[in-house]
Amino acid sequence: MKILVVGGGGREHALVWKISQSPRVKEIFCAPGNGGITELATCIPIEPTDLQQLASFAEKEKVDLTVVGPELPLTLGIVDEFSRRGLKIFGATRRAAELEGSKVFAKEFMRKYSIPSSQFSVCTTADEAFKLIKHRWFSYPVVFKADGLAAGKGSIIVNDEAQAHEVARQIMVERRFGAAGDRMVVEEFLRGEEVSFKVITDGERVLPLAASQDHKAVYDDDKGPNTGGMGAFSPSPMVDEALHRQIMEEIIYPTVRGMAKEGREYRGVLYAGLMITEDGPKALEFNARFGDPETQVVLPPMEGDLVPLLEGVAEGS
Ligand code: AMP
Ligand code: GLY
Repeated sequence: MKILVVGGGGREHALVWKISQSPRVKEIFCAPGNGGITELATCIPIEPTDLQQLASFAEKEKVDLTVVGPELPLTLGIVDEFSRRGLKIFGATRRAAELEGSKVFAKEFMRKYSIPSSQFSVCTTADEAFKLIKHRWFSYPVVFKADGLAAGKGSIIVNDEAQAHEVARQIMVERRFGAAGDRMVVEEFLRGEEVSFKVITDGERVLPLAASQDHKAVYDDDKGPNTGGMGAFSPSPMVDEALHRQIMEEIIYPTVRGMAKEGREYRGVLYAGLMITEDGPKALEFNARFGDPETQVVLPPMEGDLVPLLEGVAEGS
């Protein structure tokens, strides 16, 4: 088989490495790839957002399967474009990837399907946000989130009213995150330890991967602001058999079934960012992709061939 991996980070290096272990794979391309990846794959200078060029490359090279790393091409519809051209691809469609691409969609979806999560409100204008801050239902700290993609930086923990005004202004007036700040979610702050829980699904069947945890805060002793994760470990000592079962029953299956019911059949990696609270696991967010950096610790110890799984998902089987 010929495989094309889209992306150029540590996550894609881990994916390329795992894919290269498969006896079925003859050649790997990576767009755009990185220095480390050049040892395992042919890197091609096409940006992950250039969907047309990627699809044309896959056609020209007769690529058998494309695997998408980052969220942006998914939310732009790379899976829809490849499918339209009859090309096999692993990832969520544009409508399915909205689970990651819109915090408002994700929160309303979770409420509709009774998936444990935090209390929240949606603000569609800056005025609404200032009114909510004045007549608040929440106590501080609280979390403000720009609706759209913001490279992992769109969620801000707010500690008092003055900061609430400032952050609402930055997101909704100054548009610090651009159009991602057209709407804003205000949600209850959850306490506990965070776990990344990823599954591979074809829209119906679900295969959980090993749970992992990120090192989130930037300084020692968790003292700094949050990052997208500067390191990771797996398996997560938090997730024993009982918690694993609870996460699958209360969060993962209702999400996969709910998305199918919404006409947004979910295929690919479903990544639930969870807070393990005193009241059990609650979903903080969903991602429509493998985690970065978690993939670097989840894939290497995984036994067996990843490629038939990715292909099975792409085929819905
Ligand atoms: P998100 O942008 O939704 O992925 O959130 C980024 C990070 O912000 C999460 O990984 C958490 O560390 C933190 N966070 C998000 N939502 C909450 C919440 N409701 N309570 C506490 N921490 C949160
Ligand atoms: N490590 C967090 C993420 O991939 O979103």
